[in-house]
Amino acid sequence: MLRTQPGRRREGVLSVSAEAEMAEEAILGFLQTREEIADSGEFAAAHGLDHSEVVNVIKSLHGFRYVDAQDIKRETWVLTEEGKKYADVGSPEVQLFLAVPPEGISREELQKRLDPSVFKIGSAQAGKNKWVEMGKHISRKVQHVDDKVKDMLTRIKDGQGIDADSIKALKARKLITPQTWKGYSVKRGPNYAPKRKKAATDLTRENLQRGDWRDLEFKEYNFSAKGPPSEGGHVHPLLKVRQQLKNIFLYMGFEEMPTNNYVESSFWNFDALFQPQQHPARDSHDTFFLKAPSTTRELPEDYVERVKRVHELGGYQSRGYGYEWKRDEANKNLLRTHTTAVSTRMLYLLAQKKPFEPKKYFSIDRVFRNEAVDRTHLAEFHQIEGLICDRGLTLGDLIGVLHDFFSRIGMSKLRFKPAYNPYTEPSMEIFSYHEGLGKWVEIGNSGMFRPEMLLPMGLPEDVRVIAWGLSLERPTMILYGIDNIRDLFGHKVDLGLIKKNPICRLGNN
Ligand code: PHE
Repeated sequence: MLRTQPGRRREGVLSVSAEAEMAEEAILGFLQTREEIADSGEFAAAHGLDHSEVVNVIKSLHGFRYVDAQDIKRETWVLTEEGKKYADVGSPEVQLFLAVPPEGISREELQKRLDPSVFKIGSAQAGKNKWVEMGKHISRKVQHVDDKVKDMLTRIKDGQGIDADSIKALKARKLITPQTWKGYSVKRGPNYAPKRKKAATDLTRENLQRGDWRDLEFKEYNFSAKGPPSEGGHVHPLLKVRQQLKNIFLYMGFEEMPTNNYVESSFWNFDALFQPQQHPARDSHDTFFLKAPSTTRELPEDYVERVKRVHELGGYQSRGYGYEWKRDEANKNLLRTHTTAVSTRMLYLLAQKKPFEPKKYFSIDRVFRNEAVDRTHLAEFHQIEGLICDRGLTLGDLIGVLHDFFSRIGMSKLRFKPAYNPYTEPSMEIFSYHEGLGKWVEIGNSGMFRPEMLLPMGLPEDVRVIAWGLSLERPTMILYGIDNIRDLFGHKVDLGLIKKNPICRLGNN
């Protein structure tokens, strides 16, 4: 198929592809009996074809080696805008001459009859040609004039040659300007044929049945063709990074926890984690509580009883908090503030299994906090959480696992700082050295779950749980060079970013 150029489609003329077909027939037919097309421009003019169409066909035939084409360049002249105008309506000097009646005319009157630029240029030229007597009164000096300028301009417009003196004169008046004309000389090529064979693109069942595959010429594969851009779904950067982190956890032998419940009861989100009911995080200023359904329907009653007791009185060598624990407070539904609520449910389930089985769990999902929104905070984000539950684990194990995990995402320089969480003891904030920023930045939180949390669940006494959590947004923003969280998540996100962001490869897992 020849390419069509929509821009060149002209009304009332042959359609572009028909014109191209005619040009192709003329070129291949001409070369059947003659050695060469010496000049594509002359060839086009002689055959009444449009030169740019002839050029397109030559390029295509050359590409398939039906012909060999050589470039020809020529300096030619084309009309300037002013030149085009005079070619249409006549030169200003002739316009002026014709405006002067045989009996003459006053300068004022003549000026009124003509366009100012026509009067100015026309009077200068007509005076120089001695066609008119210029003064207060203007009169003809000759009876008749020829518009040589218009004739010359018309010849140039039609691609005909003119003498060197006229060129000089028109150029001096800026009525013509040089232009490089490009065309070709054309000879038969190695694949020359009087008619183009249409190359087959596919080998079909019919070709095989008819046996005509033997004579077919196949179009070559274009291995560098890009193919149409896919308009299907596009994966958000957060989900790309999440998938990479998921792979890292899976390589390390962790199982994914089910996080498909944004709504949690205060019991699983706070109480089971030994977080006291008057803790400020449990205030509506920090946590989103649900209006409907405002409370949970079901909790494991005997476990609730043990949690109540540890809050009020302690036990397991703990003194507890010594306050009156209220069931109503534990029943309140909320949007989970951390995925540690899910970890807690999973540990409780694990504790019910006898004999005890060690586990490595992870999750990556959304959590919600009633926070003031700014360039680094939204009221929701994604938490990455990992935990290991086994007999006799120590803080050394936690530090070792953190080094292993974070080095897999390209953060091998770590430091730890003592911290406080109601549910872990000891607790450590995790810092990583950021090469780009040249400083230590906080990247996560970690610790060993307290006995007050684990023993009421029913886990054996020597079982320890080491755990850590971090946000998914922080590493994603660093990896994708985004400095405002609202450009990453929410209604202000540019869809183009989602469509064009690169794939994510973390470390060398
Ligand atoms: N839940 C903690 C947070 O929201 C993260 C964490 C998980 C801390 C596990 C310690 C252990 O920041």
